[in-house]
Amino acid sequence: IDELLADGVAGKRVFVRADLNVPLDGTTITDDGRIRAVLPTVKALAEAGARVVVASHLGRPKGAPDPAFSLAPAAARLGELLGADVTFATDTVGESATSTVAGLADGQVAVIENLRFNAGETSKDDAERDAFAGQLAALADVYVGDGFGAVHRKHASVFDLPKKLPHYAGYLIATEVGVLKKLTEDVKRPYVVALGGAKVSDKLAVIDQLLGKADRLLIGGGMAYTFLKAKGHEVGISLLQEDQIPAVKEYLERAEKNGVELVLPVDVLVSPEFPDLKAKAPTHFTTVAADAIPADQEGLDIGPETRKLYASKLADAATVFWNGPMGVFEHPDYAEGTKAVAQALIDSPGFTVVGGGDSAAAVRTLGFDEKASSGGKFDHISTGGGASLEYLEGKTLPGLAALED
Ligand code: 3PG
Repeated sequence: IDELLADGVAGKRVFVRADLNVPLDGTTITDDGRIRAVLPTVKALAEAGARVVVASHLGRPKGAPDPAFSLAPAAARLGELLGADVTFATDTVGESATSTVAGLADGQVAVIENLRFNAGETSKDDAERDAFAGQLAALADVYVGDGFGAVHRKHASVFDLPKKLPHYAGYLIATEVGVLKKLTEDVKRPYVVALGGAKVSDKLAVIDQLLGKADRLLIGGGMAYTFLKAKGHEVGISLLQEDQIPAVKEYLERAEKNGVELVLPVDVLVSPEFPDLKAKAPTHFTTVAADAIPADQEGLDIGPETRKLYASKLADAATVFWNGPMGVFEHPDYAEGTKAVAQALIDSPGFTVVGGGDSAAAVRTLGFDEKASSGGKFDHISTGGGASLEYLEGKTLPGLAALED
């Protein structure tokens, strides 16, 4: 983008593909981190006199307009953060978008409606995506890719559109890739990875890669119960992906062979009932050893011994990557495990990266952020969940390949 700015963008229509896929409660944004993350790019372009057209997806609407997934709240928040009027087009490539973009003065910013209100955005059919990308291209002279959270998607605005316009990487994408390179090239050791979240199946490919790269893997969250089961422990009514047990067994063996320390919870908080995440009323839970989960109980967080253990395993790390909560952090009874790991990263003198849209939202809603006050901070909170995992898996990411092209 510096190259673009140096060439001059005054009067040019610049399409910024952002990732404004923020968590919403109705129309209230509960974490605006992704909007803040794209501000440097939008500001720099606007200050240089570009006519900035910001586009994004939000949620997973079914290829047609759906008010529940409107980008209007995100557009309003962008305006507040910029301290400037941001016009909002109520469609994506229709009359509203065309006239909104035509009405932009130099230095003004517009947001167009959710890209996924058009089936062409996510279509698997190359021609359909190409046709939609052609309509988007008509709105701009230049393309800036800055939606890091979506670079793993082969979607029209991510993959096809940059081919139709002069294209550049925005500041966010440049920062994110710079950070992820530190986790993949010449990694400073010990390299410790903490993985949580509900499903093992989402993390299989990254674990596969990390077994050849990381020194230590700490496992928590719902996925830990499939690991405990694979080790022969009963897990009661905890989350379990029975079909993943063979893969997990193979990982446990490979970890041993490769000298990777694969650490599982030693104790867990269990309850007979999943907590009510809305009311957040206190629940009845007990702490049990991880190999003694009662048949009628469900594991909902790592226990106090595991918190201490994981903190000690993180303390001497030179590089840390963390993706996925350690428990049902949305309920205060089961947030301590996630908080303990967050705090351990903050206390760590090493290079610490929080990966993931959900993990990023989790640390912020739990009161931690990039500027955490207790003497330290995370070095980087990635805006990409799936994108950062796929980068670490070593995959070619369509949105990055299109920009490099
Ligand atoms: C994310 O939230 O990870 C990105 O915005 C991508 O969203 P998607 O998984 O719906 O493609």
